[in-house]
Amino acid sequence: MSELWTPNSWRNKPALQIPEYPDAENLATVEKKINEFPPLVFAGEARNLKSELADVANGKAFLLQGGDCAESFAEHSGDNIRDFFKVMLQMSLVLTFGGSKPVVKIGRIAGQFAKPRSSTMETKGGVELPSYKGDIVNGIDFTPEQRIPDPERLLKAYRQSAATLNLLRAFASGGFADIENSHRWNLGFLEGTEAGARYKKMTDKIEESISFMRACGITPANTHQLRATNIYTSHEALLLGYEEALTRKDSLTDEYYATSGHMIWIGDRTRQPDHAHVEYCSGVKNPIGIKCGPSLNPDELLQLLDILNPNNEAGRIVLICRYGANNVEKHLPELIRKVERAGRTVVWSCDPMHGNTITSESGYKTRPFDSILSEVNRFFDVHKTEGSYAGGVHFEMTGKNVTECTGGTNLVSDQDLSDRYHTHCDPRLNADQSLELSFRLAERIADERNGG
Ligand code: PEP
Ligand code: CO
Repeated sequence: MSELWTPNSWRNKPALQIPEYPDAENLATVEKKINEFPPLVFAGEARNLKSELADVANGKAFLLQGGDCAESFAEHSGDNIRDFFKVMLQMSLVLTFGGSKPVVKIGRIAGQFAKPRSSTMETKGGVELPSYKGDIVNGIDFTPEQRIPDPERLLKAYRQSAATLNLLRAFASGGFADIENSHRWNLGFLEGTEAGARYKKMTDKIEESISFMRACGITPANTHQLRATNIYTSHEALLLGYEEALTRKDSLTDEYYATSGHMIWIGDRTRQPDHAHVEYCSGVKNPIGIKCGPSLNPDELLQLLDILNPNNEAGRIVLICRYGANNVEKHLPELIRKVERAGRTVVWSCDPMHGNTITSESGYKTRPFDSILSEVNRFFDVHKTEGSYAGGVHFEMTGKNVTECTGGTNLVSDQDLSDRYHTHCDPRLNADQSLELSFRLAERIADERNGG
């Protein structure tokens, strides 16, 4: 953290990916308003998450982070939040069983609106307009009016985040997360398949364990952990004006926290050590993710760790590796060696989405299920070879039955993509694909646990 860090010291540094608003005065007025609004999360919650992530860093827990690539105003509904939460709970149950370790659940939700883009302009049919940067900035429709950054959108994103978080908190503690509910599986899509039979064996064992606990008198009625859970929120801290407006000093510790979400991360395009995004994140005490893609120089990562985590606090840093299935062996071993040799404590997490995006023959941006699974497996292989702990996964996923990624047992083909392709940005795993991926991962983790 720079000596002169303040919530707005990022403004003195070069900043990539931040939109230019035509009316700067209006933007400042809106940011000031948000600065007076209640925080979305408490500092104490971010600290709890940090301590749970410290367990992940130390090999005692596993991290499941997932959600939309971009939340949208159009897809904001109770049903969507419920279906997302349900699939997260089921994935987490499967992974807890596979790894015999607690699973820390973090949604890309309640604030995941702003998107970095590889190109500032988009061209369609000879017309050039500013790129869509997420609903918190501008509109997705390809019209000049929609593509103008509008500060009113910040207010809408704040309110949507608050409403989403409210329902998530209610689900987490109000009965929805009761283990007797979350193990009602919808595995019909796997019926008659060889993979389905294997996963059924696992769910049968989970059911048996729950019955056994019940017989011993351990039930949701008398055991808090079986009836409630924690779900944390996270997003890319891209739009720094919004982040600054929600930065608060914790009265208990006198330290600053981003209260826009429990965890924030720095994207692959904005992690320059001397730039604005790193400056902002260096001064808030939340857990911080760093996206690690093929362009990351390992020495630069050490520099980032010095800036963002000078005291080497466990649980502060999550390295979210996103190389693409065929690039994992090329980059990850060196990164692990440098970080581990430097004695740095981090959570190693695998984002198998962003390095595996292709354009299908039918013209859709998609990700094949097999490439996603392959990157996860290679990530685990490399950690096994290097003797480090593969601590978590980071998925773009939804609880809805969309057709955005191809493959999976309930095969989504290239021709199917047009059926229910709803994402506002990158293609997401649907509920079936997400659950299937967690089964495959749980099998692998269980295998390693049994010395395989
Ligand atoms: C994302 O997580 O949606 C994203 C843009 O990722 P990255 O920064 O890794 O490209
Ligand atoms: Co994405």
